[in-house]
Amino acid sequence: MRPIGVFDSGIGGLTVVRALMERLPLESIVYFGDTARVPYGVKSVATIEQFTAQITDYLLRCDVKMLIIACNTMAAVAADVVHRLARDIPVLDVIEAGARAAVSFGGGRRVGVIGTPTTINSNAYARRMHELDPSVRVYSQACPLFVPLVEEGWLDHQVTRLTAQEYLRPVLAEEVDSLVLGCTHYPLLKPLLREVAGPAVRLIDSAVTTAELAAQRLQEAGLARANGEGAADYRFVVSDVPLRFQTIGERFLGRSLGQVEKVDW
Ligand code: DGL
Repeated sequence: MRPIGVFDSGIGGLTVVRALMERLPLESIVYFGDTARVPYGVKSVATIEQFTAQITDYLLRCDVKMLIIACNTMAAVAADVVHRLARDIPVLDVIEAGARAAVSFGGGRRVGVIGTPTTINSNAYARRMHELDPSVRVYSQACPLFVPLVEEGWLDHQVTRLTAQEYLRPVLAEEVDSLVLGCTHYPLLKPLLREVAGPAVRLIDSAVTTAELAAQRLQEAGLARANGEGAADYRFVVSDVPLRFQTIGERFLGRSLGQVEKVDW
């Protein structure tokens, strides 16, 4: 009955939990959101590495059978820390899943990537995509205003639409055929981004692709739960319970959060 450990800088990673619940309804999940220290997307690499190590330690103590880095920023700059601490426990992350999905449609692609400043500056998506397919052309754009706009709930708001038009202009000018939503918050903007990017651009949702990769890895490792082993159990642990946490969290998860625990490190 070991759970999958999923973690993020805050509540955004609940988009990954939502995709996991749909794709792997039998699996138990323990989610950790570092709500006391969010946002990570504008912090330095050294700080993010230190926080990531602390969260990984905590989840390993919860006896998880797999770790999923749901935060693009942590995946971009601190994935090595998680792999080192996890030893033989499988580790997946949103960048690996998103990069694979982006190159899976054949060679010569033109791919746009949007994310937080730290994710984009790290070049992690472009590097991974080039390793998988050297013919791919990657155009990246940091979109720092998207995280606060999503947390404000402005998913279909004129301010968000204008912001998206401004951010996407240089990427769309490169005639990209796909756009990787390289941040936990962006799947909530999918309808608006689809409208701004136009129907010809394929949107790659890292949450969905991560759930797909998790299903595949659990099967390969013989760790998938079978029917009849009891109902899945979900735990949500955070480092702070800020005002409006429940409302925002439920928007990300698409269902009721139930009991939320404050971490006891
Ligand atoms: N979870 C972060 C990410 O996916 C976004 C929020 C933050 O900046 O911490 O990049």
